[in-house]
Amino acid sequence: MDGQVVSGDGAPVEGVQGPLVAAFREAQRRSAPQFTIPGHKGRIGEIDPELVGPLAADQPLHGGLDTPKLARGALQTSERMAARHFGADWCRFGVGGSTQTNLALCLALGRPGDQVIVGRALHRSLFSGLVLSGLEPVWILASAHRETGLPLGITPSALRRAVALAPEARAVILTDPGYLGTLSPISELARVAHGAGMALVVDQAWGAHFGFHPGLPRHALALGADALVTSVHKTGLGHTQASLACARTGRLELARLERGFDATHTTSPAGSILASIEGSLELMSARGEELLGRAMELVHAARRQLREALPGVGVPDESQFPGRDGPLFDPLRLVVQLAPLGADGRAVEVEMLRRGVALEYADRDLLAPVVTLADDCGTVRRLVSEIVRAVGATGRGSDRPLRPPLSWRVRPKVALSPREAFFAGHERVAWQLAAGRVSAELVAPYPPGIPVLAPGEVVAAHHLRVLRAAARGGARIAYASDPSLGWLDVVSE
Ligand SMILES: Cc1ncc(COP(=O)(O)O)c(C=O)c1O
Repeated sequence: MDGQVVSGDGAPVEGVQGPLVAAFREAQRRSAPQFTIPGHKGRIGEIDPELVGPLAADQPLHGGLDTPKLARGALQTSERMAARHFGADWCRFGVGGSTQTNLALCLALGRPGDQVIVGRALHRSLFSGLVLSGLEPVWILASAHRETGLPLGITPSALRRAVALAPEARAVILTDPGYLGTLSPISELARVAHGAGMALVVDQAWGAHFGFHPGLPRHALALGADALVTSVHKTGLGHTQASLACARTGRLELARLERGFDATHTTSPAGSILASIEGSLELMSARGEELLGRAMELVHAARRQLREALPGVGVPDESQFPGRDGPLFDPLRLVVQLAPLGADGRAVEVEMLRRGVALEYADRDLLAPVVTLADDCGTVRRLVSEIVRAVGATGRGSDRPLRPPLSWRVRPKVALSPREAFFAGHERVAWQLAAGRVSAELVAPYPPGIPVLAPGEVVAAHHLRVLRAAARGGARIAYASDPSLGWLDVVSE
């Protein structure tokens, strides 16, 4: 981040990088008793040493990194520095993940009943944002890449069609990068959205590393979007739940952004999470080229090693996704497609977990391990050898075609807006009776957390069958009132 480096009270800092990290260190050293929350007061060791670990880094913002009345302004200083980094007029640090920052942005975009154009391959938090804000989505559906079967980003022509259908829409909301690493041409989409008088808002939860290395895509604001959200804890170096939202004003209103953020933000933010956002941005600004360059090389090598060890395996890379401003695929995303081998990713995951190695995503057809700038040669070598070993140990059947997982193939039939369905009367029905009814529930295999069944959409029998089979196969079917989908809540008739 470029910006003056000062402590929480405005004094220049030596040996630390930003005001929140400096204030955190100072708070950890403080020995005088504090008469503020949190209740554990950093003294849990006096009561039960077993709990020291979980609470070791906990420092509040109020009365920890800053005075209870925030007299030092450490957070504001740090957020201003982050805004400068992103070329934004507004930036806030969130402690509730991109879930919270997505909700915040939705509350800033329009009024209940206004339309927004939204990529349907959205995370549940954006869907919840539509419920909260009352915005009504005009969906853009994902299509599949012919060669790899991966779900593609949104094309300018698809956006133009949506704009023609909903010329009064207030904004366009996209998810980029997609969970499996594919990208949309953001600068072209920004031109289309702006040409129609709409703001472009990007859920860049999986792009915390974007813009920190010339070989990576630039972040969405640099490409012309009006706002972005990112999970600093995903591909950055933030504490779990660390997130940020930033925006340019003009098409978006500063007061609405502030109100949306404050309405969704805890009044007791964890200073440790906030300091980690600053620390992550500072470190990636200072050493991103070195660390991300290494991570990209490691991913590149892993792809080659997997192709050599498992002939026929699908390991997509940037060369397969050319784009006008650079490849439309995240060079850091490792996706391993087992379908052509006839191997079962669920069994591979179980086998790897048995040996203590966890993957971010695994379904029958593919694995998506997360490799970040915290990995090194040893960790990635182990990943490759564990995958190869587990595929060998779990066996193969006949090959299957490459196609996107169900989450990206949903073509919803919409009966009610998300908000209408959320507040409508509900009844519980056996799954055999649910097809054709309007879902009152949001049901999403997690990850990726993209709703397959969503409030207000007509339940398709085929989706229920696939979800039930996935549940039986060990997938986590999140948010369903019955995770085995023996019954479903539908809107009362
Ligand atoms: C695209 C997308 N947006 C938002 C989120 C929510 O992020 P968080 O877990 O930081 O709340 C996720 C989580 O996986 C996601 O994949």
